[in-house]
Amino acid sequence: MGIIIKDKVFTIHTKNSTYQLKVDDKGVLLHTYYGRRTDETDYSYMIMAADVGFSGNIAAADNDRTYSLDYFPQEYPVLGSGDYRVNCLEMELGQGVKDCMLFYDSHKTYSGKYSLPGLPALFARENDNVETLEIVMKEDRENVYVHLLYGVFFEEDIITRAVFIENKSGKEIRVSRVMSFCVDFARGDYDLIHFHGRHANERNLERVPLFHGIFELRSTRGTSSHQHNPFVILADKNTNEEMGECYGAALVYSGGFHMQTEVDQLEHARLVMGIDDSELDWRIADGDIFTAPEVMLGYSPNGLSCLSHNYHDAVFHHLIRSVWKDRQRPVLVNNWEATYFDFNAEKLLAIAKQGAELGLDMLVLDDGWFGKRDSDYSGLGDWYVNEKKLGCTLKELVDKINNMGLSFGIWVEPEMISEDSDLYRAHPDWAFVVPNREPIRGRAQLVLDMTREDVVSYIEERLFALLDSANIQYIKWDMNRSLAAVYSAGLGKEHQGEVRHRFVLGLYRILEDLHTKYPELLIEGCSGGGGRFDMGMLYYTPQIWCSDNTDAIERLRIQYGTSFAYPMSSVSAHVSVCPNHQNGRVTPFKTRGICAMQGTFGYELDLSRMCDEDKMLAKEQVKTFKQHYRLFQFGDYYRIASPFENSDFTAWEYVAKDGREAYVAVVFTDVHGNPLPKTVRLKGLVADAVYKICRDGHVLESRTGAALMNAGLLLPIPETSYDSTAFYVSMEG
Ligand code: GLA
Repeated sequence: MGIIIKDKVFTIHTKNSTYQLKVDDKGVLLHTYYGRRTDETDYSYMIMAADVGFSGNIAAADNDRTYSLDYFPQEYPVLGSGDYRVNCLEMELGQGVKDCMLFYDSHKTYSGKYSLPGLPALFARENDNVETLEIVMKEDRENVYVHLLYGVFFEEDIITRAVFIENKSGKEIRVSRVMSFCVDFARGDYDLIHFHGRHANERNLERVPLFHGIFELRSTRGTSSHQHNPFVILADKNTNEEMGECYGAALVYSGGFHMQTEVDQLEHARLVMGIDDSELDWRIADGDIFTAPEVMLGYSPNGLSCLSHNYHDAVFHHLIRSVWKDRQRPVLVNNWEATYFDFNAEKLLAIAKQGAELGLDMLVLDDGWFGKRDSDYSGLGDWYVNEKKLGCTLKELVDKINNMGLSFGIWVEPEMISEDSDLYRAHPDWAFVVPNREPIRGRAQLVLDMTREDVVSYIEERLFALLDSANIQYIKWDMNRSLAAVYSAGLGKEHQGEVRHRFVLGLYRILEDLHTKYPELLIEGCSGGGGRFDMGMLYYTPQIWCSDNTDAIERLRIQYGTSFAYPMSSVSAHVSVCPNHQNGRVTPFKTRGICAMQGTFGYELDLSRMCDEDKMLAKEQVKTFKQHYRLFQFGDYYRIASPFENSDFTAWEYVAKDGREAYVAVVFTDVHGNPLPKTVRLKGLVADAVYKICRDGHVLESRTGAALMNAGLLLPIPETSYDSTAFYVSMEG
């Protein structure tokens, strides 16, 4: 049993963690514990009742100056309760002032997992050990109910939280901030680990100590963004990959977000996260509900690797719904860096032909196949095949590719509109533009107003027609700009504060409809690479193009950062040409292959123009990937050497869940004269088993798991800059 309730003390146990909240004698919902698995002791004894000074006392405290929400740990703090820290809820109840006060109303528990209408959320499969707790809080004066939802994923040490507000007050109310959760920690001396970056340089790890005051990360871009990822870790100072306590919070949402930590006057840390509230002003009509997205809280008593494994497992088993989760992903070639906009059927068929010879599974036709789209200045929205450019119909092209033994995928960017498009000429009001102002353009394009029914219908009609027109097995769903100067001509001026969230709901609706109508379709998410790499998208798209940066060496950092929350089977990565198109770097073909195998493997170059040596290597790479795909897709992923800490090499490892086999990849990032011996220590093996070791396809020797995990493996000396090597170890017998 994960949820134990006694005298209004709610104790939630997962395999290795305990989370506790308590309704006190005033009806306030306090947060009393989150950490290592313990018992059901009422941990409110840890809360200091004292007059701290200049702290308000709620009426129910009756002038008891030692009772103040200014410093008590709370489960869902609100503006208006005398709590001056960052809060979860700002609500206006018709008096023009943001003021509310919540008290416990009721609760229920059930086995299985709640779902959230219109929003992505984790799910339980049959026989999963998953339970739900729902606590209803009532506003003091008004019939407004705040439902706090908890999904308990026992095995994965993940607790999801979500919130919905139900207005039964008989009038309209407004919310300007609805965070998905709060955790009040009993200490403040944590490190915060977060992942920042920019286009083509996503998810760099930064570890900083929390400090007194507020630290925040946010995206106001309408997407989760390249700049910040909606995933953070709070870790003890001494926590590393293998040991120490840490907590994770991942928002299951693809729009803008807001994360704050605050170390308060008692030196306790508060962590909150939710949808971006910078422009939020949502009116909840009487009888309506507003739902805030879900967050996945994780806890590990054993370091960062364990935390990552918990997230990876939870995402894999309870978030990704696509049938492709379990299927071998197609090794594909994408024509973007091969041709950019300059292609026709002949060029594509030449690439496909070579792909078939190398053992590839799919050709993906990227941007430029529709409307008037020979550059990124026009055509978005006109989702009609440009047969003149192709030289044939799409079906003819796809049939030919299928006949070569390859399946076919295609790129779309449905949320966008070019001003130079038939769609814009017919429906200028379908783009977000503030009245009487010039639009803010991004990549010379505007954003479609996905809050509108007619826009959603148009996009669906075009996508469905495209998918029905030929044998299309995959789409790459792109999104190539941030939202700015957002105004919906379809909504009245009093509803403009709802547009950004409604935009995301429109996106989710189309993705949901696609999932329902085309359950076999593999959808790859993309937003100029990894600008929308988040849990929300993974509910619809089991893989995401990780970055527009295809340089193997820069990808080491990008993929390293991504791996903390997201399983590597969701990380789309390709081998591209050298000099690399983003930074001009030259790396060995072998190394590019090893780096792309860290994720879903593929190519992004003109295969028909490859030299014979590269063709031979590519054939080997495809064979290796297919041979080990189960390990890559279903194994446990370990970060062995960090690109941020080890300047000489980066290493990672996949281990089968039963420990019988493992694959270790090492990329040398620096070379030296008279080099020092370098080693890697493996993880996750069975100590007393004997493993056969192969390096780059050659059998070397046998060693025990204990030897490989404690003494390690001696690395070969790199022969060139950015050389690499890979070991495959398998249990004997
Ligand atoms: C984005 C994607 C690229 C490519 C281009 C096409 O930048 O991330 O992979 O699809 O768009 O315009």
